[in-house]
Amino acid sequence: MRPVGGGKGQAGGVQKGLSCRGMVATLLHEIPLQGGDVTDGVVRVGDTVRRPASTSTPAVHALLRHLEAAGFEGAPRVLGMDRLGREILTFVPGTTGLDLASATDEALACLGVLLRDFHDATAGFPLVAEGWEGGSNDDKAPEVIGHCDLTPENVIFRGGLPHAMIDFDLARPTTRLFDIVTTLRHWAPIADPVDRHPLLRNLDVGERLRLFCDAYGVPPRDRRRLLELARIRFHRSYAVMRTRATAGGNWAKMWAGGAGQRIRRAAAWLDVHEDELHASLV
Ligand SMILES: Nc1ncnc2c1ncn2[C@@H]1O[C@H](COP(=O)(O)OP(=O)(O)OP(=O)(O)O)[C@@H](O)[C@H]1O
Ligand SMILES: [Mg+2]
Repeated sequence: MRPVGGGKGQAGGVQKGLSCRGMVATLLHEIPLQGGDVTDGVVRVGDTVRRPASTSTPAVHALLRHLEAAGFEGAPRVLGMDRLGREILTFVPGTTGLDLASATDEALACLGVLLRDFHDATAGFPLVAEGWEGGSNDDKAPEVIGHCDLTPENVIFRGGLPHAMIDFDLARPTTRLFDIVTTLRHWAPIADPVDRHPLLRNLDVGERLRLFCDAYGVPPRDRRRLLELARIRFHRSYAVMRTRATAGGNWAKMWAGGAGQRIRRAAAWLDVHEDELHASLV
């Protein structure tokens, strides 16, 4: 079991006023959830998930409430904050990560539909930069709130198909295409084969880019710009990660684990294959 006190932006230790019995009950029923790299201390308690709060939590909660009001089913609901200062979200049953089902073309196409529905459901939400975690971005004016971190660990699958997205820590105003590029980085994937999950190693990446874009309904002007934006994103996310790594913590661990070199290899792979990928897309 992970200690209750640690983690990003957390209240720090068990709050005064929480009885010993209450504390023990809380501890005994907390199931640690692992999957990502950045946030320590994510736990399941009954039908809820508790996550350490961060500076972006108020903006993320406003977004999740907006999605609920818009009738978007593919995100957890906000239930408030607990006595330890953690956010409380609904637990979304299903599986995360890559397996024989989630690595299929069918799952990829469904993910394109899910991302499109999500972007459309953010319509009307204020596109102000303040309040979000930030990160690399597009130069064009924001059109939607992007998830900006739709990795296999941040998608809940049911029956082998994408059902919901979780972990909105990096959500922020951006263009549709920037969020599409970020998603395809993980799922096409736009990566050197040596760095890919074995289930994604020998796929036709150009064909998967096209399939995702067809499912989302990416217009021709954005398809023509997709690979150029992927290249820009590689350079910017390299710089952002290197800066974050200097602050220590899990970003530093990811950097020390070769995250920067994986971005460099992906950019080099894209340079070599750009023309054939572009031909599949347009
Ligand atoms: N609302 C939820 N419903 C179901 N499972 C969840 C939910 N939130 C988190 N999980 C599970 O916990 C894992 C980790 O949670 P989360 O993605 O929020 O944090 P993290 O991945 O550790 O952080 P980061 O992505 O910032 O590194 C997820 O991959 C998923 O398996
Ligand atoms: Mg995650």
